[in-house]
Amino acid sequence: MLYSPPIVAVRCHRMASTPPSFRARLARTKSLDRIMADAERPEFRLKKTLSATDLTALGIGAIIGTGIFVLIGTAVVGDAVRLGAGPGIVLSFVLAGLACVLAALCYAEYAAMIPVAGSAYTYSYATLGEFVAWITGWNLILEYGVACVAVAIGWSGYFNRLLLLAGIELPHWATHAPGGPDGGIVNLPASIIVLLCTWVLVVGVKESARATSIIVVLKLAVILFFIGTGATAVDTANWTPFMPNGFAGVGAAAAIVFFAYIGFDAVSTTAEEAKNPQRDIPIGIIASLAICTLLYIAVAAVLTGMIPWQQIDVSAPIATALEQLGFRWGAAAVAIGAVAGITSVLLVMLIGQIRIFFCMSRDGLLGPWLAGVHPRYRTPHRATLLTGVIVAVFAGLVQIGEAADMANIGTLFAFVLVCIGVVILRRTRPDAARPFRVPLMPVLPILGALACLLLMTGLPWVTWVRFVVWTAVGIVIYLAYGLRRSRLAEGN
Ligand code: ALA
Repeated sequence: MLYSPPIVAVRCHRMASTPPSFRARLARTKSLDRIMADAERPEFRLKKTLSATDLTALGIGAIIGTGIFVLIGTAVVGDAVRLGAGPGIVLSFVLAGLACVLAALCYAEYAAMIPVAGSAYTYSYATLGEFVAWITGWNLILEYGVACVAVAIGWSGYFNRLLLLAGIELPHWATHAPGGPDGGIVNLPASIIVLLCTWVLVVGVKESARATSIIVVLKLAVILFFIGTGATAVDTANWTPFMPNGFAGVGAAAAIVFFAYIGFDAVSTTAEEAKNPQRDIPIGIIASLAICTLLYIAVAAVLTGMIPWQQIDVSAPIATALEQLGFRWGAAAVAIGAVAGITSVLLVMLIGQIRIFFCMSRDGLLGPWLAGVHPRYRTPHRATLLTGVIVAVFAGLVQIGEAADMANIGTLFAFVLVCIGVVILRRTRPDAARPFRVPLMPVLPILGALACLLLMTGLPWVTWVRFVVWTAVGIVIYLAYGLRRSRLAEGN
């Protein structure tokens, strides 16, 4: 059966003399059966090649990156608009990790139930209606697209550090975006790495998943090396006072280091490429998040134990901490691992963004042109090129903190919608097969939504203003285009 009863209802409605009301159009949902059927349409079908191990590697590949290698510095020390956490950063990681674990459980339930690309966007379409789905997808552009911008800038910081350790100094104007205390003209390494990754992705996802697995091993080795080496240099006196700026500092830092966890849900955006999605997607999401949470807490404790928190560097804190204690070769090893590791984050996050565009376009909410699959590579090459070029431009021109804050607010909001949606779907489709179920329903999803809202309150007001503007622009685009061009509206 290609079309499910709700869609038939929409089509019949169109044949009747009265068109559906505005509210009904905003609330139309895409049935689970149709979502699955669409994913199987030959012109949109993606290759199914990823195993549980590939997916867990993909998760770790997406998670450990700029957040732990770069942003942890600002979170500990603070910046012009917020207080630092000091050694209390350990607590910040616990708080942000907790919110993510709760959201991850909801993602796992959804992803096992609706194993198609599109992640939270697709889930919202099935539960909360087209308008909320659009808003979710619009926020996922912040989560993936804008996060890629921050990730690429973080990559550039470690790349430059590596070159410096080798005695090569690139001109300041070509390695720093304009504005900020240290402005240049353009961050060229950040733009170039994005374009290189884009090219890899046009060629094919299996190749990049294999490369990701190798990089993930290197990245884990570097993190474990830092924990092992750093632990020998810990002076417990550095942990007192534990929270120099109290809970205000810990909360603000949690809202920053939340970025370090973004990516576990990228696993769910590749569900259509998984061999056995119902079993393997929940494994991929939960295993990768659990591993990274433990590592982060250890890194945070070691870093703040190694040197007094006020002296922690903000551009390449992990490598610099080793350098400050005289481990120069160790700093070089970490910088190499960070460059490789952050590259894998970039690849996976780009994949996520491309899949979101692909799904929104397949549903008619963005131009159908974007959803084309390359005849030979079987990859969504147009969505890939568009994403790559836009991210490359922004990566060259904006500051890392601004991009990371925007990514965080959009992601947190998408997580809130996912947590709420999972509760709604239990009520509206109690009978649907759920290979993975969130325990303690509805307590855990509600706590998850509240935890994400709490983290959002830790972000600066300027980020909130930008978020409101972003949302308003999204609403205008939806009303002007998606509302009429949606495939549900057109009945095909
Ligand atoms: N979690 C990813 C990172 O920290 C986005 O780079």
